[in-house]
Amino acid sequence: MSLHYLAAADRYEHAHFARVGRSGLMLPRISLGLWHNFGDVDPLSTQREILRRAFDCGITHFDLANNYGPPPGSAETNFGRIFSEDFAPYRDELILSTKAGHPMGPGPYGDWGSRKSLISSLDQSLKRMRVDYVDIFYSHRPDPNTPLSETMGALDHAVRSGRALYAGFSKYSPDQTAEAVQILRALGTPCLIHQSSYSIVNRQIENGLTGVLANEGIGAIVFSPLAQGMLTARYLKDIPPDSRAAKEHGFLQTQTVEKNHSRIVALNAIAEGRGQSLAQMAIAWVLRLPEVTSALLGASSVRQLDENLAALKHLEFSDSELTAIDQIAPV
Ligand SMILES: NC(=O)c1ccc[n+]([C@@H]2O[C@H](COP(=O)([O-])OP(=O)(O)OC[C@H]3O[C@@H](n4cnc5c(N)ncnc54)[C@H](OP(=O)(O)O)[C@@H]3O)[C@@H](O)[C@H]2O)c1
Repeated sequence: MSLHYLAAADRYEHAHFARVGRSGLMLPRISLGLWHNFGDVDPLSTQREILRRAFDCGITHFDLANNYGPPPGSAETNFGRIFSEDFAPYRDELILSTKAGHPMGPGPYGDWGSRKSLISSLDQSLKRMRVDYVDIFYSHRPDPNTPLSETMGALDHAVRSGRALYAGFSKYSPDQTAEAVQILRALGTPCLIHQSSYSIVNRQIENGLTGVLANEGIGAIVFSPLAQGMLTARYLKDIPPDSRAAKEHGFLQTQTVEKNHSRIVALNAIAEGRGQSLAQMAIAWVLRLPEVTSALLGASSVRQLDENLAALKHLEFSDSELTAIDQIAPV
């Protein structure tokens, strides 16, 4: 790998973008998340390869959070190093996001959604990522013990103070989303985007959230569209030792993979009929909803990223394919 990075001149030639709700911002249809594979436990050379390849293919959006690693904070630190060495000249072409709201530091201010937690966490994230601002700052999860107006006030302050360009929230229910949107709008900092999980085997957002987002003109960026790797060829035969399900800090449980195995096999047959891999079909499927601006993927190798990007070549579904998927994985 060359020491000096020069982005591919044709990086936007085959790239696909979509508007985020009714905002002025466009995001790539596939974005890259750094939750896994970018911690101190992961080789920095692979991290750099994945980020370079992504940007070379027109992926302009990298998604982080204060606690990504392991250990927490290390994904931002590693990203900051690679950013300063490779991507600093391209800052204006990048949409970088971070979040606060999950456990990060000791004491009462290292978690949840108070103004103190959010603003101090964002300041730490900017230092680790070696940037002056992030493009999107998220409340990572709703906080049942902090007034929503305080959390939204912190997002508004993050934007007004120049630490972030846009505000968003993650994992807010339809009702919480509707209320938070009104508060932010009244403050003069509209909510840009909602981040929630969505995949063929997890269709919760279809039960109300997409309706709220469509009404309010807010975009959805959906995480874990591959169900953390279950909707790929990874687990068709067994649980490989280098897979997320086999790793101690992986979050994906082997029991979950085993429980879903027959569905994975059946979905794989539909994907084969479409001339796609299961991963490609799973990505195309989340992108079929008009509310979904971007599919937020993870990848542990450039090979996975390349396979996933090719999903954009075939996004259409026939009615019979959709019906067959509904039968395997109903809403
Ligand atoms: N807001 C939130 O609360 C929240 C929560 C979770 C995630 N997120 C965001 O969403 C991003 C994506 O989440 P995710 O990593 O769970 O997404 P995902 O795309 O569903 O899963 C990614 C994992 O699947 C495997 N994989 C990917 N492509 C593959 C392919 N072509 N063939 C075989 N295996 C493949 C890899 O795991 P292996 O290690 O097995 O190779 C990869 O790390 C995160 O990085 C983060 O930015 C946000």
